[in-house]
Amino acid sequence: MTIPSKFHIKILTLFPEMFPGMLGMSLAGKALEKGLWSLETVQLRDYAEDNHKTVDDTPFGGGAGMVMKPDLLDKALRAHQPIGRFIYMTPRGKPLTQALVRELIQEPQLTILCGRYEGVDQRLLDAYQAEEICIGDYVLSGGEPAAMILLDACVRLLPDVLGNMETHNEESFENGLLEYPHYTRPALWTGPDGVERAVPEVLTSGHHGKVAAWRQAESEVVTKAKRPDLWEQYRAKTKKSK
Ligand code: ADE
Repeated sequence: MTIPSKFHIKILTLFPEMFPGMLGMSLAGKALEKGLWSLETVQLRDYAEDNHKTVDDTPFGGGAGMVMKPDLLDKALRAHQPIGRFIYMTPRGKPLTQALVRELIQEPQLTILCGRYEGVDQRLLDAYQAEEICIGDYVLSGGEPAAMILLDACVRLLPDVLGNMETHNEESFENGLLEYPHYTRPALWTGPDGVERAVPEVLTSGHHGKVAAWRQAESEVVTKAKRPDLWEQYRAKTKKSK
């Protein structure tokens, strides 16, 4: 499948000044400057109707925290119609995986709603059929850092952002395994513990076939040790013995 060459993102947030943040730096930042992707932020508070610019209210049924109001969010969304998939960042969402990232960049645009406080009124999410995405099993103080992580993972895969597309094929998760270890010069290095460590011999052999076989084997060992869940999935898919 071909990835669109331009990617447009619309973010609805109470903190538009957080963007582009880290996405304005390094590779993503250069790609932003070059126009390979673009970002539009919408300040949700602008759609509050009262003098206090209220964006949230206490939850029905009681309990701690505040909930973002559906009428306010609806007003913002009517003024800034979602483009592409409409995503809501929440710990209750489906996990963000490399496979999902690859899916998200198939379309040239994306709209992301970032919640604060206890979250967003469920009726708004139902009405707009929001796709809920979670970046990990922990709770952040808002959806903005989660949206940045999602976007970082997307933008680096866009054509011309990273340059060498081949580097993606061997990355962790692309083939269901974690990546093999990397080494560079010097070939012999003495660490702070006084131990001299050499680079695995096969890597300096110049034998491409042997290097590839070593890397594959290392990927399998690392995945088995660090991520037994991924290893089980990989084993089931490739019918490898334990
Ligand atoms: N908002 C708060 N915590 C989050 C998480 N883990 N993933 C996505 N959005 C969030």
